[in-house]
Amino acid sequence: MLAGKRILLIIGGGIAAFKSLDLIRRLRERGASVTPVLTRAGEEFVTPLSASALAAEKVYRDLFDLTDEAEMGHVELSRAADLVVVAPATADLMAKMAGGHAGDLASTLLMATDKRVLIAPAMNVRMWEHPATRRNLATLQGDGILVVGPEEGAMACGEVGPGRMAEVQQIVEAIEGALSDGPLSGRRVIVTSGPTHEPIDPVRYIANRSSGAQGTAIARALAALGADVTFVTGPASVPPPQGVRVVRVETARQMLAAVEGALPADAAVFAAAVADWRVANATDSKMKKTKGGLPALEFAENPDILATVSAMGAGRPSLVVGFAAETDDVIAHAKAKRERKGCDWIVANDVSPGTGIMGGAENAVTLITAQGAEDWPRMGKDQVAQRLAARIAEALA
Ligand code: CTP
Repeated sequence: MLAGKRILLIIGGGIAAFKSLDLIRRLRERGASVTPVLTRAGEEFVTPLSASALAAEKVYRDLFDLTDEAEMGHVELSRAADLVVVAPATADLMAKMAGGHAGDLASTLLMATDKRVLIAPAMNVRMWEHPATRRNLATLQGDGILVVGPEEGAMACGEVGPGRMAEVQQIVEAIEGALSDGPLSGRRVIVTSGPTHEPIDPVRYIANRSSGAQGTAIARALAALGADVTFVTGPASVPPPQGVRVVRVETARQMLAAVEGALPADAAVFAAAVADWRVANATDSKMKKTKGGLPALEFAENPDILATVSAMGAGRPSLVVGFAAETDDVIAHAKAKRERKGCDWIVANDVSPGTGIMGGAENAVTLITAQGAEDWPRMGKDQVAQRLAARIAEALA
């Protein structure tokens, strides 16, 4: 599976570093070569000798090592690998990555590389939940860094919660996924997902019941086929998938701007439940209750993101897929919507309350293309996503 692949493994300073020795062994069993890099803190947990012995390779430790630089400069080292893996990725390493620091060998390699980077965070639960780490994680995901874990459980420090490094097996699978050459590798795809929030005032907003589950599953399925996915998400209730570039937005107008910023793309899938209207007279300060008075909200129409992208001339993705969530006359409405919005395909579904589809785990869709309508049986949202991703791969082949 990993034969002929070279992995640059940066080992940060955390108690989980001992698992990284096992990771080296497991990667080599699968045919990969591993170049270990130890941070200063990493050396407190793992000796250079054990990393080197398991990898059967030289260990890199110092940015200014004259012998290393003479043999292979750090820029070259960062590019010689097929994938850069950081395990464990400590809070400090994540902060350095998010801030673009390059003060030691590990951070310099991460700045200089032109390859994909996968991190396996590991830290105390408080550190993981600290707003600074939350911000750094969002920045790194937005930069397209792949993230595996962390897991919940008892930690070495005695506390319980998320922060434990993913199991070695999980990291190996994530590495295999990142290195697999799927039918969509080299293809750029944009996926919109989740609801939008349209503010009324700083504390109130208009929203809808979309959980983001279907869009998230589609982005995950496309990434699994090797696509380079930009995932533009409103405030969804499910976490974004791993291995995609995540752009978080709130309003429809922000979503349009994010989609335009992510172009060009080979395909775009618009699974978001975008609010059709925004409050035109939203206020900057909280609306107060006045005796006998009710607020008079005025509405303005939001841009239609799907229609805007479908109508683009040069630079239009070659495949534009929309969704049509309907409650009656599903197929007729969806066909009309496809024509009106100018997209290539529409995935139609019945979201009537009795179906349990909105916010549920399953979906029953009809794929409408220029050739006609195709009913898919009711199945899990993950399976709908995989089937759609496979069709997109066929269409772009
Ligand atoms: N969509 C969009 N931008 C909007 C509204 C909708 O990109 N401002 C996209 C959705 O992501 C979806 C498709 O358009 O792919 C259809 O969304 P839907 O809400 O069903 O369509 P509406 O335009 O709201 O049509 P109607 O209200 O008439 O059902």
